[in-house]
Amino acid sequence: MIPGKRGAAVMPFSVVIFGALMLQSVSSQSAPSIATSEHSTLPVEGDSLTLQCNLTTAHSAHQESYWMKNGEEISDTRSQNKNIEYKLNKPRGDDAGVYMCVYTFEMAPPANGTIEVKSAPEIVGHKRSENKNEGQRALLYCKSVGYPYPIWTWRKYENGVFRDIDNSTGRFFISSRDNYTELHIVNLDINLDPGEYHCNATNIINTSNEKSVLRVRSHLAPLWPLLGVLAEIIILIVIIAVYEKRKKPEDLQDDDDPAGPVKTNSTNNHKDKNLRQRNTN
Ligand SMILES: *[C@@H]1O[C@H](CO)[C@@H](O)[C@H](O)[C@H]1NC(C)=O
Ligand SMILES: *[C@@H]1O[C@H](CO)[C@@H](O)[C@H](O)[C@H]1NC(C)=O
Ligand SMILES: *[C@@H]1O[C@H](CO)[C@@H](O)[C@H](O)[C@H]1NC(C)=O
Ligand SMILES: *[C@@H]1O[C@H](CO)[C@@H](O)[C@H](O)[C@H]1NC(C)=O
Ligand SMILES: *[C@@H]1O[C@H](CO)[C@@H](O)[C@H](O)[C@H]1NC(C)=O
Ligand SMILES: *[C@@H]1O[C@H](CO)[C@@H](O)[C@H](O)[C@H]1NC(C)=O
Repeated sequence: MIPGKRGAAVMPFSVVIFGALMLQSVSSQSAPSIATSEHSTLPVEGDSLTLQCNLTTAHSAHQESYWMKNGEEISDTRSQNKNIEYKLNKPRGDDAGVYMCVYTFEMAPPANGTIEVKSAPEIVGHKRSENKNEGQRALLYCKSVGYPYPIWTWRKYENGVFRDIDNSTGRFFISSRDNYTELHIVNLDINLDPGEYHCNATNIINTSNEKSVLRVRSHLAPLWPLLGVLAEIIILIVIIAVYEKRKKPEDLQDDDDPAGPVKTNSTNNHKDKNLRQRNTN
């Protein structure tokens, strides 16, 4: 009774072992396997984050291994090792991304393992203010670090609340790609458009936003300095004209009327000179 039961139990067991061996030999023929460290999220505890890959099984000896970040090879990481590490010292937002360890083989395509390092979006560049004339076009932008890439939105801050941008005039255009977003406003309206615009970057970890101030000046604004100069010139001309008009009669009076108390000497000298000149002549 007991051997019978055992026999029944052994049969499936050997099938399982056989199946596992088959599976392993198939997988080791088709694809090498790589053990990778866990995905992680910044900030991490401690000073550094170490990413690891171990090439555990391979159909043949590998040639080289190296690391990639966001699809680009990280320089100076090539080695011949099976177990490799990439260390991020004091990792920050811009260290977040998709890391990949790649092993190359002589007779087979490369194999890779992926480790995601996530972090909250952090806006690292934006336009603080934009000053344009009415009728012109404004361009605001924000760019971020962090992974996954954020979902971008733009809002206007008015009377203490965020409002979705009112695009009833069809003059607002948003284009966002990965870590960058742009807001274009065409044919600026001096009454509707000035204000605070905020870009908002949100991913599964967290959210952040930044403010840009848009100022719109009147059409005439660029003429103001010119008008100012013109006004100055006109005022100057008027002053000179008035001064000249007042000065000329005085000069004439001086010559006609030698009886001034201060001018007496000078007019006398003048006369003396004339006399002398006449004498010499
Ligand atoms: C890789 O191998 C090293 C040394 O054998 C081990 O300490 C480490 O935990 C392994 N890493 C992974 C991700 O398996
Ligand atoms: C990583 O491996 C996958 C298949 O496992 C392949 O499709 C992909 O192209 C590889 N990527 C790189 C960068 O080698
Ligand atoms: C944004 O992403 C591109 C690739 O998608 C990258 O070249 C660039 O450095 C990134 N910019 C920032 C600020 O991270
Ligand atoms: C605003 O309206 C224009 C015209 O209908 C459209 O092309 C544009 O995509 C809209 N912009 C936004 C931000 O919805
Ligand atoms: C998200 O960001 C806000 C403001 O920067 C911060 O106060 C909050 O703790 C963050 N939340 C998480 C889950 O990190
Ligand atoms: C960004 O927008 C989302 C969705 O509307 C909102 O939940 C989040 O609070 C906003 N982030 C900031 C920093 O205002």
